[in-house]
Amino acid sequence: MKHLHVLAMPALGVALACLPLAAGAQEKDPASGLIMAEGWETVLGNCSACHSTKLVTQNSGSRNHWQYLIRWMQEKQGLWQFDAETESTILDYLAENYGPKEGARRPPLPRALMPDNPYSTVADSG
Ligand code: HEC
Repeated sequence: MKHLHVLAMPALGVALACLPLAAGAQEKDPASGLIMAEGWETVLGNCSACHSTKLVTQNSGSRNHWQYLIRWMQEKQGLWQFDAETESTILDYLAENYGPKEGARRPPLPRALMPDNPYSTVADSG
């Protein structure tokens, strides 16, 4: 029965997908929109000088993805270097709070949950 809960999600529509996490909304800084979790002020201080923090909050990805973006900004966009501790704080925060979107790459629905295909020529086992 556990999986049925997950599979029911798409039926509830896009609105739910916009919620950060189903379990308990996280508090956000009203000015920047950043989730106020550990390290957020470091991110605010280092990631809001050149562009809106929306660019940050609208992105998501693994720690590697964020590190890649930071390296790209350092090489091409004039982003300064961080000491190891600061970078680690930033990457931990981003990976934790803006990690890979689970819902975005959900596996396809099982056949049983799909509507009947009116064009199917094969007997449907259900
Ligand atoms: C020195 C300036 C500068 C700082 C500071 C900066 N960025 Fe950027 N960043 C840029 C520029 C320039 C772009 C490209 C903007 C555009 O395409 O309009 C960018 C783009 C981005 C993007 C979008 C990348 C994409 O795939 O389109 C993200 C996400 C991002 N920055 C995150 C961060 C984070 C996280 C930090 C803090 C660690 C940060 N930025 C700090 C200059 C900066």
